[in-house]
Amino acid sequence: MKLFVTGGAGFIGSNFVHYVFARRPDWAVVNFDKLTYAGNLANLTALASHPRHRFVRSDICDGAAVLAAMRGCDAVVHFAAESHVDRSIYEPAPVVRTNVIGTFTLLEMARELAVPRFLHVSTDEVYGDLPPGEAADEDYPLRPSSPYSASKASADLLVLSYVRTYGFPAVLTRSSNNYGPYQFPEKFLPLMITNAMIGKPLPLYGDGGQQRNWLHVADNCRGILAALERGRTGAVYNIGGLDVEANLDMARRVLRLLGRSESLLSHVADRPGHDRRYALNSSRIAADTGWRPKVALEEGIRQTIEWYAEHSEWLAAVRDGEYMSYYEKFYENRNASLQAIAGTRKD
Ligand code: NAD
Ligand code: TYD
Repeated sequence: MKLFVTGGAGFIGSNFVHYVFARRPDWAVVNFDKLTYAGNLANLTALASHPRHRFVRSDICDGAAVLAAMRGCDAVVHFAAESHVDRSIYEPAPVVRTNVIGTFTLLEMARELAVPRFLHVSTDEVYGDLPPGEAADEDYPLRPSSPYSASKASADLLVLSYVRTYGFPAVLTRSSNNYGPYQFPEKFLPLMITNAMIGKPLPLYGDGGQQRNWLHVADNCRGILAALERGRTGAVYNIGGLDVEANLDMARRVLRLLGRSESLLSHVADRPGHDRRYALNSSRIAADTGWRPKVALEEGIRQTIEWYAEHSEWLAAVRDGEYMSYYEKFYENRNASLQAIAGTRKD
């Protein structure tokens, strides 16, 4: 089996490539990644001289480059995306380009080459806010709230249209919020952990009562491989974690596990359009492949804290100039940045 993996230098993609080589040692991977601010070759150091791992630095919107690198592959696993909601609010153009046009380009090239399998990686955010007590199954309406989630929903619909119109051999996964090793610290949990480690405030948007369905990345990688190998063609599979928990409670867990004071909790101005609650019903993937989440939140967070503590060089390199200017804009000058958006809002 030769996989064409997009976004394999990012958080989930790199975890997946490592997982594949551990579980399917005879497989080969073409790892196709543009190396945006979120892509990091240091996530792949252990594979630098692996005989069946080939890294290609390129853009999924570049059809010719995709065609050349995809030729001869047996399956596509498509992770590449602009993946951050906050950045998508401030600058939607690259998000729409990569997530929609990039996915479309991959679909066209895979169709031209008649690649036998295409796994599209999506998100629970396409379902939007859920009322208390409800969990979205795969037939739940799509009501995305942010430019990011709308671009992912658009890509999902394109993939499903190819299934219906061209008999395209795709499977889709929609996972909940991932956490674990190699996550870029713009996302909630690594930001909380890495700030708490150095005694910096933990910025909670609004009241911190927003809930997410937390999923360890190892559980997601296992689910994606299960869907790739055993999922029904044309099916969408939700992949949700064991626990739904509010951001404030997550931040408190981090502080407790690191022995830090709750005085570090800091409520900051809320994200525009912020979804209050996500929760997934993942019974379809359980029924079709036997997959179930395994990692409980407390243990998963403990391991993740340990990983960041043991990878201080990785973290120092990630916290470079780009990250610092991002942090300054989104947190230190948060009110001014949000006001600039509010000025364009028509309520
Ligand atoms: P990430 O931001 O860590 O990594 C994205 C990767 O894609 C990076 O390596 C980046 O260089 C690459 N990339 C971006 N634009 C590209 C382009 N035009 N061409 C080629 N490569 C490009 O993202 P992640 O958190 O690993 O997410 C991976 C996928 O999983 C995304 O599709 C995302 O929507 C989805 N997802 C993520 C989560 C989560 O909690 N992180 C949850 C559900 C779904
Ligand atoms: P995030 O990791 O950006 O994922 P998503 O928005 O895709 O769910 O954020 C997770 C939750 O944490 C979300 O409710 C927003 C909130 N959040 C904060 O409260 N503070 C922060 O600094 C960040 C990055 C997120």
